[in-house]
Amino acid sequence: MSETPQKPDTDEISGIETTGHEWDGIKELDNPLPRWWLWIFYASIVYSVIYMVLMPALPALPGMSSGDSDHTRGVIGNSERANVARDLAALDAARADGFSRLEGISIEGIEADPQLLGFVRAAGQSAFGDNCGTCHGMGAQGAIGYPNLNDDVWLWGGSYDDIRTTIRFGIRTEHEQSRYSQMPAFGRDNILSFQEIRDVTDYVLSLAPGAAIENADAVARGRTVYAAQCASCHLADGSGDRAVGAPGLIDHDWLYGGTRDQIITTIERGPFGVMPAWEARLDEGMIDALTAYVYLLGGGESADPAE
Ligand code: HEC
Ligand code: HEC
Repeated sequence: MSETPQKPDTDEISGIETTGHEWDGIKELDNPLPRWWLWIFYASIVYSVIYMVLMPALPALPGMSSGDSDHTRGVIGNSERANVARDLAALDAARADGFSRLEGISIEGIEADPQLLGFVRAAGQSAFGDNCGTCHGMGAQGAIGYPNLNDDVWLWGGSYDDIRTTIRFGIRTEHEQSRYSQMPAFGRDNILSFQEIRDVTDYVLSLAPGAAIENADAVARGRTVYAAQCASCHLADGSGDRAVGAPGLIDHDWLYGGTRDQIITTIERGPFGVMPAWEARLDEGMIDALTAYVYLLGGGESADPAE
């Protein structure tokens, strides 16, 4: 006795054969795959075969690889590495033109040339992000101990040449042309007593325009200390001296913080901010672009003091 072959089950409503699977009365129809789908499927197989022949695709078999590659190279010889190298060379060539035009040019010359100005802003911004943002902040806004470069308050000077010198040789670095000065650590090195440091702090706080004077006696004592110990660098009126990078003390703009405690700490320990020298790390053109970029952030000063 042989079993009669089972007749395929057909769905009554649609008339389409089912797969024979059924769950709680729900049957699975055996629809053919849509034609458009099949064509895409076949096309992608054909495409992948052509791709494997033309492009680098397979781990190398002996004799099929060459040079430093460990895969088949493809008959059209496409190489992403070579593409990147070519793009970089093109970028370098485009930039070399911009950098060479910066050589010896004045900031006025840059500002008068919209193309060069755009170049300096773009090249300067990316170089600033790579090299300077870690200390000065990505927006050059600064932090405690790291000056804000957007404003017109300068420790060492804000002309194009001043900024360039600072960037090239740094501040308090080993470079023999580095900007250099050192405020004494008045507390740590026992130059002043704690009382004198408190008094001179009161005096410094009293210098700011509109400051409320809490302790007139302390301010008076502090004035004497200031004249003897501080005026040589910060000047008699507290306006600061760029020749030694001594900040102004009357401008509400504090590099190391302007609370009483912060000022006491500064005077006790003597600040010693170090800015690296970039001359050996960046080439001249890049230093020019960075100088112009910093200058153009907003605080750049004319080289001519009369302006
Ligand atoms: C390791 C931290 C650090 C890095 C990186 C750094 N700087 Fe500075 N920079 C400083 C410090 C600290 C000062 C302040 C030094 C001082 O107190 O006199 C300074 C000062 C400056 C000044 C002088 C500001 C003034 O008021 O005179 C300029 C301009 C400057 N930096 C630009 C740059 C540029 C451009 C770069 C990137 C190429 C850079 N800095 C990278 C720490 C850094
Ligand atoms: C030899 C020069 C010199 C003398 C003397 C000196 N200073 Fe300074 N002072 C500096 C320099 C330079 C800086 C900035 C250091 C830096 O940027 O790291 C500074 C920074 C400061 C600051 C921080 C300012 C800020 O913006 O945060 C204060 C406050 C200050 N000095 C007060 C004094 C007082 C008070 C005295 C006297 C008791 C004094 N200094 C004596 C050179 C001097």
